[in-house]
Amino acid sequence: MNSSEGHSTASGCPFSSGNMTLSDMSLTDPLIQARPQEFYSKLRNEDPVHYDEKLGMWLVSRYDDIVTLLRNPQTFSDKKGYEAQYASGFFEEFKQILEKEGGGFFPDVIKSDPPEHTRIRKLLDSAFSAHRVKTLEPAITRIIVGLVEQLADKAAAGKVIDGVKEFSIPLTIAVICEQLGMNQYDGDKISEWSAAITAQIGRMQNREQMVENANKICELQNFIIGQMKDREANPKEDMISDLVHAHTEDGGKLTFGEAVSLVRALIIAGNETTATAISNLLFILATQPAVAAQLYDNVEDERYLTRFIEELLRYAPPVRGLAKMTTRETELGGTKLPKGAHMLVLYGSGNDDERRFECPRSFDASRGNVGNHVAFGVGIHRCIGASLARMEIRVAAKELIKRVRNIQLAIPVDQVTYLPTVATHSIASLPITLMRR
Ligand code: HEM
Repeated sequence: MNSSEGHSTASGCPFSSGNMTLSDMSLTDPLIQARPQEFYSKLRNEDPVHYDEKLGMWLVSRYDDIVTLLRNPQTFSDKKGYEAQYASGFFEEFKQILEKEGGGFFPDVIKSDPPEHTRIRKLLDSAFSAHRVKTLEPAITRIIVGLVEQLADKAAAGKVIDGVKEFSIPLTIAVICEQLGMNQYDGDKISEWSAAITAQIGRMQNREQMVENANKICELQNFIIGQMKDREANPKEDMISDLVHAHTEDGGKLTFGEAVSLVRALIIAGNETTATAISNLLFILATQPAVAAQLYDNVEDERYLTRFIEELLRYAPPVRGLAKMTTRETELGGTKLPKGAHMLVLYGSGNDDERRFECPRSFDASRGNVGNHVAFGVGIHRCIGASLARMEIRVAAKELIKRVRNIQLAIPVDQVTYLPTVATHSIASLPITLMRR
């Protein structure tokens, strides 16, 4: 399903299972997707590695099992899990559309296993050097300050603002374009392209939506190919140039198709995830005034800000579940798994595991193990954009709280909507009011 359609409006409290047993429940249920905490807790306590019949996947819900799985990439294959999930049920047709209209079918080379993954990740590192992230900070700060000012102006005119569509999404898209050196861009297109790609792992699209999404992905690829050709002829100081010209010490290079797939991954991977983190920030500031007050009181304290961002990512992780697949018969958390078991790693549930985090549903930036969350994953596939994302969320939190106050939801909390997908936990729309400081 496209991200613009079929949003779930569940009760503001966590989904309540009443007398239901786990076998009656499924992560495919939009009400559970929207407010999953009780479901996660039932999983962790009753069946931590649970087979969800409707989804056809094993849900891994405990922190320790998640870490064990992620540290064993040879047994739990990222490549096989991703491929089994991708364009689920329509893969061949999807591939043909891309080959015909989109310049080719370029598999996601970062979604691979060692040794291929090791080679690709090394080449990708050049685009995420500390130098590249640092050089982006001043421009990102300018973009964010501009958007916060616009938000404050609209609010001063008494308007209700959609925090997702009018703040988080435009902010993240502007940042990605800055990062990739794309001066001329159409924000709405990038947002549509991004939703079309994430729908391929969301497990909620029908055939008609797959075709529509495949056509959008063709447009995206044709756009990327144009950008890359331009950088081949005229190298610039940006991440697309870094990738087009990337090479390892022993002279290894990316093929053209690999580079297309990585630019596509960078446009998409950092988009909905970071936008969701910023929407979650707005949601928490609007619904937990004590947290907002504490952030304001400590806004110049860099150590506090670091802790605040980590707790935000633990408390409300944007990525809910990514797929892996067993390459042999194995065992996890006491459950025997056959070869070819399709796993869904529930990062969202791991961050809520009371065995690891005391009072997990309380937002507490001072908790001792604040940095131990799994919002960016663990091990060889750990998010490569983590330092960029952290910087972006931190600048957003800081510039926002310095300039605006009294952020409030303009609808009852139980009417906040979420995107229908098993891959992320993303607010679809967030009507808010606020005041300039
Ligand atoms: C708050 C924002 C973000 C969150 C929560 C997030 C989360 C994640 C997670 C959970 C993984 C997968 C780890 C695994 O397989 O276990 C991942 C991988 C990845 N992320 Fe992020 N991410 C964010 C932002 C970004 C940004 C800004 C970029 C780039 C511009 C990015 C690029 C990637 C890439 C390329 C991978 C694949 C890495 C690999 O497989 O080696 N992410 N991210």
